[in-house]
This record gives sequence, C-alpha cells and structure tokens, in this order.
Amino acid sequence: MIVTGLSLETLSILVGSVVALRALQLFLDFRRLLANIHHLPGHRTILSSSTVLGRLLPPTPLLILGHDHFWLLKHGPFAERGLDIISAVACWPKAMGSMLIADVNVIKDIVWSRGERFPKPLGQYTVLTFFGENIIASEGNEWKRYRKVVAPGFSEKNKRLVWDATTQIMLDLFDTMWAGQEEVVVNHSVDLTFPDDVIPLGHQLTFKDALRTVTQDLTLTILVPRWAMGLTKSFRRARLAFDELHRYLTEMIHERQESKDEEDNNDLLSSLVSANDNENLSKGEVRLSDSELIGKLQFQTLAEHDYITTAHALSFAFALLALHPDKQEEMYQHIKHVLSDGRIPTYDDMPSLTYSSAVFNEALRMFPPVCAVPKSSAEDTTFTLTDVNGTLKTVVVPKGLDLILDVPGLHYNPKYWEDPFAFKPERFLGDWNRDAFLAFSGGYRGCAGRKFAETEGAAVLTILISQYIISIKDEPQFAGETYEQRKARVLDARSMLTLAPTRLPLVFRRRT
Ligand code: HEM
Ligand SMILES: *[C@@H]1O[C@H](CO)[C@@H](O)[C@H](O)[C@H]1NC(C)=O
Ligand SMILES: *[C@@H]1O[C@H](CO)[C@@H](O)[C@H](O)[C@H]1NC(C)=O
Repeated sequence: MIVTGLSLETLSILVGSVVALRALQLFLDFRRLLANIHHLPGHRTILSSSTVLGRLLPPTPLLILGHDHFWLLKHGPFAERGLDIISAVACWPKAMGSMLIADVNVIKDIVWSRGERFPKPLGQYTVLTFFGENIIASEGNEWKRYRKVVAPGFSEKNKRLVWDATTQIMLDLFDTMWAGQEEVVVNHSVDLTFPDDVIPLGHQLTFKDALRTVTQDLTLTILVPRWAMGLTKSFRRARLAFDELHRYLTEMIHERQESKDEEDNNDLLSSLVSANDNENLSKGEVRLSDSELIGKLQFQTLAEHDYITTAHALSFAFALLALHPDKQEEMYQHIKHVLSDGRIPTYDDMPSLTYSSAVFNEALRMFPPVCAVPKSSAEDTTFTLTDVNGTLKTVVVPKGLDLILDVPGLHYNPKYWEDPFAFKPERFLGDWNRDAFLAFSGGYRGCAGRKFAETEGAAVLTILISQYIISIKDEPQFAGETYEQRKARVLDARSMLTLAPTRLPLVFRRRT
C-alpha cells in the first residue's frame, strides 16, 4: 500500500525529528537554567532524582544522583567545590534545578523569614499527602489552622506525660518481656521500640507490622494501582497492611470520640478529634468525615514521624553507645551521679540528665532522620556567604527555584563541627552552635514535636543505660572483621523517607 510505504520512511524521519527537537529543547532549557543560576558549580545529571524512576535507580555518575545522595555524600560535594551552596541540575523529564545549602547563615535567613519569601515547594510533598492533606505539607493560612489545632497538644504538661509514659513503658518492658533474662538479644534494633506484639481481635496484623509495612512499602503502595495489588504476594501484603492501618486509625478515632475523660485527651490525635467536634467548630467550618480525619491526621506526623523518626534516632544512639563503651560508661556514671540513691528518674531530673540529652543530640547530628528539608524561593534574590578561602561570594537565586536545606551537609560541615565523623556527645554539653543543628529543621516551620522527641529520647536512654549495658551482637559470620568494618556494618543506613539502620543486631545485658 502506498500509504504505509510512504509512511514508514516518513514516520521514521518524523519520529527522528521529534526526538531530536525534544532533545534540543531539553538541552536549551538546561543551558538556560544554568545561566539563570550563574553557573553555580554542583551536580549535573541527565535524570532527576525526584522522579519515580529517579527514586528507584541506584546512583550512577552523569546519569543520576540517587535519592540517597544527601546522606551518602554528606559535606563532600560542598568541600569539593569550596562553597557551602551548590547546585543540582538535571535535564529529564524537564530541565530541573535546585540549590543545596549547608551554610548556617543562609539557612537561618531562610527558616526565619516571615511572610512568603521561602515557602515549602508543596509539589514535592505528594508522597506525604497520600493519606490526605497534612500539616507538614501545607503553607499559608491552611498551615496556620493546622498549627492552631495541634498547638494545645504540645503543652508543658504533655511533655511531663511523655516522660512518665515513656519510663512506664520501659519499666514494663524490663518487668515482663525481658524479665528473668540476663541477656536480651535483638536482631534488629528497630524491632525493640514496639514491644506490643499481640494481634487484637478483628485484626490480621499488629499495629506495628501494619505501620512498618506501609511505611516501608510506601513506594509500592503509591506506584501500584489498588486493583493490581492482589497480583503478587508482596502486593497483597502491602494492601493488607494499608487496610489494617486504616482500620487501626479509625478505631483510635472512635475511641477518642467516645472517651470524654479530659485526662486521656492530651495527645495529638485527641486534639484533632475534639477540634473536629461539632461544638468546637467555628461558624462556617465543615465537619470532616472519619476518613478525611484520617487524612488530616497527618500521616507523617502520626505514623512516620512520631514513631519512626524517634525510634530510628534511638536505634542509632544504641549503636553508637555499643560501639563506644567508654562513652557508655561515662553516661552511666553521670546518671548514677544525678540519681545517687538509685531512684527512677522523673521529669524534673531531665535538666540534670545532660549526658543523656547530649547522646541523643549527637545521634541526631550524625544520623539525622530527615536528611533534606525542601524550601523554594518565591522571588529573585541573592545569598552572600564566604567560600573556603574566606572570599565573599554572592549566589544568584532566580524566582521559583527549589532550595534544599542539606542536613547531613550541615551536620558534617567541619566549619561548625570539629572532627564531624567522630562520636563525641561532649560537644553538646557546653555551649554549642544551635543554628548548625538542623535535625528538627528550624525557624517557624521547625518540628512541632521537638520537645516531645527530646523528652522521649532522654527518658529511654536514661532508663535503659541505668539498668542495661548495650553491645553489638557477636555473630559467627562476622567473627573476622576489624572494629572499623564492624562499625561500618552496623551503622550502615538508608534514607527512604527517613534515615534508618539497615541491620543492627544488639545485646542488652542486665547490670549487676
Ligand atoms: C527525633 C524525632 C523527630 C525528628 C528528627 C523530627 C524532624 C522534623 C522535621 C525535619 C520537620 C520539618 C519537615 C519539613 O519541613 O519538611 C518536622 C516537622 C514536624 N514534626 Fe517532627 N520530628 C521528630 C519527632 C516528632 C514528634 C514526636 C512529633 C509529634 C509528637 C513531631 C511533629 C511534627 C509536626 C507537627 C511537624 C510539622 C510542623 C509544621 O510544619 O509546622 N515530630 N519534624
Ligand atoms: C581557593 O584558593 C585556591 C588557591 O588559590 C584555589 O585553587 C581555589 O580554586 C580557591 N577556591 C575557591 C572556591 O575559589
Ligand atoms: C535472631 O537471629 C538468629 C540467627 O540469625 C535466630 O536464630 C533467632 O531466632 C533470631 N531471634 C529473633 C528474636 O528473631
């Protein structure tokens, strides 16, 4: 046929020119973007790491950075270029650029600017809005409303409750599951923080398993359409976990709606539920359905955030103490000194338990659960900072550019932290540079639960170290390794949504 005969040739020319034109366009866009940021040195790759494909591919020079690059590279890329702001530019699926920042003064400028100069780039939070809108992924008036709703939950009184509840949970753990054991072996430290292993009536998974599967398989749950989830075993498991988590959250909401006892209504969930009660809504505010409420429950705040971030930070703290028995002993002596009569520490002891807080902070510095805090520039602006030679440099920032506060870049910046790869809790004992510590982000949009996390961290570490000695589990397959190899093995970490240890086997030996 004439038509096909013609079109085969025409078609290939057509396709060829479309591809060539598209490539040319991408290349020109890429060049224009580089010109817009005045060729600020940095990463140049073909694929962007923020796409779905980018999240799945391993780091490959020139092709892709890999989503883990903040954690894996730390301050390296800044040191290489002699400046604490670098760029990252990719050409596909479109020319995309961002600036990575590891300079204290520039970060301070960004997080403390009122008004809308450096808003959150809400497009980057789609993973977190999977369960609905939430506080972390909101801006402007919507954010103010969320913050107002959750604020009463973060009172001083509740900080005390966090301490009491945490110590009670730890003591119960020692008295029940760990009772009568000289040594408790935990194959993976992250398992420790959820001692509740009973599957309640009407459920097929524990809350912990549902939560863990959903957060681990988050990419899967997002990528695979629901109808296709019955197809393989791991898809089915992810779907079950997702449904179970939904069921647990619904039950938790109902429990709080039924419980009118004020004393019990002090957690985040309760303040949300009660803010949503008819009598507490202002005129014009619409009551949310339970499933909207689950969305509003801020998936990250509730699940990922409250539980996982603190649990992971504690796991790293255990590992660091296990690898540094001298520091562990120093911490123990400090606790013994504060609680000289051997009593259980109370919330009022917290200001004296400085070494416990220092260990928690140092673990958060070395292993920040959240490695990248995204912002954006709402206007054409400039940043001024000194380079490695002490020369003042000006970085040009075009309107709309994404800015990333590079937490490992800052935490391993030798300008602010002497010998940054060394575990030295003492650096948090005296005066320390608070602006160079970004584990909780900072400024107006800093972590609302910071005081809670600090309280929980100090309580867990104090109670545990006062009664147990932590060490790394000896395993026959690793018998020949050196200290450095062992350290690298147990501290190995991956950052998916938050930074987590890959495998951390620990032994807790009761002190005599
Ligand atoms: C060690 C534990 C924790 C770490 C490292 C941490 C870290 C962070 C970071 C980096 C942000 C900013 C995220 C962004 O801008 O994209 C944030 C926000 C937030 N965190 Fe945490 N967090 C922790 C524990 C908690 C806990 C226990 C709670 C609640 C009880 C909590 C509640 C929140 C809330 C509500 C926000 C949103 C604040 C806002 O946007 O106004 N966090 N957290
Ligand atoms: C700092 O000075 C050295 C030696 O003069 C030079 O090679 C290097 O490029 C300078 N670094 C920057 C970031 O300008
Ligand atoms: C830990 O791992 C060992 C061997 O790898 C296994 O025998 C043991 O049952 C595991 N313990 C737990 C609590 O999973």
